[in-house]
Amino acid sequence: MPTKHLAAKVKKAVIPVAGLGTRILPASKSVPKEMLPVVDKPLIQYIVEECLACGIEEIILVTRQGKEAIENHFDTDFELETILEQKGKRENLTVVRKIVQMMNIISVRQKKPLGLGHAILCAKPLIFNEPFAVLLPDDLVDSQIPCIGQLIQIYQDIKEPVVAVEKVPTEEIYRYGVVIPEPVRDNLFKAKGFIEKPDPEEAPSDLGVIGRYILTPEIFDILEHIPLGKGGELQLTDALNRFAQMNGVYAYLFEGKRYDAGDKLGYLKANVVYGLKHPKLKRDFNNFLKEVVK
Ligand code: G1P
Repeated sequence: MPTKHLAAKVKKAVIPVAGLGTRILPASKSVPKEMLPVVDKPLIQYIVEECLACGIEEIILVTRQGKEAIENHFDTDFELETILEQKGKRENLTVVRKIVQMMNIISVRQKKPLGLGHAILCAKPLIFNEPFAVLLPDDLVDSQIPCIGQLIQIYQDIKEPVVAVEKVPTEEIYRYGVVIPEPVRDNLFKAKGFIEKPDPEEAPSDLGVIGRYILTPEIFDILEHIPLGKGGELQLTDALNRFAQMNGVYAYLFEGKRYDAGDKLGYLKANVVYGLKHPKLKRDFNNFLKEVVK
């Protein structure tokens, strides 16, 4: 199954947001976890900004009932804008309007909770014969070049799917899709296969897949034909494993630090790190943290 004749430019990104957010309950009980703030912006806004910074032109949200707040965040709020205008709050108005103009966002519903692979499959009708990015909104990556931009650069070079990986301690490997790697060059590996959430003793490497992928549309055919995997869900990792056995899939040890903001500790860490970088807050926040740890 050749991966050929595809455009080099990655113009679309799929962001699955239909998850329940059980790892961060009760915060996510009635607020979508993607709307939880890291400092002063909801998680999803960081992800959309990452796409914007890398030339992506359209976002496909794979969502479900009860998560409308995400779409509303990127839509015009006439009442709010009118009040801000009347009160002369220009700075706030600019911030609010900028979010609306940020990106063309389309949503599609995932009608059954059948896993990440199924969520990606729901975006099939909106992806044509083109490569596309997938970003999992739990993962915030603090890096010089946005993580998805790093993958786009690799994709433009090799024209095959590529996933971001990081080195994961043995005791945490059971939470990740893990790559069977064959070194190509610095930080780049050809994947001989993938295993979703292996037991530590079965893990083929310490390279865990994080929530950034560049995929090609062949993945949909595979997702349509593979059986349900771990947890009774359609696993993207299983489809990548099949893809790797037929074609090339690459794994890139990205530059940067990833925070799993869908997890309580990861969420706290992200708030501290992003708080310490916030242009208006960093000085006072830094002083405050020094006081606290004293
Ligand atoms: C998903 C994927 C897994 C990947 C992880 C990265 O798992 O199935 O392969 O390593 O995201 O965050 P989840 O965290 O949704 O269980």
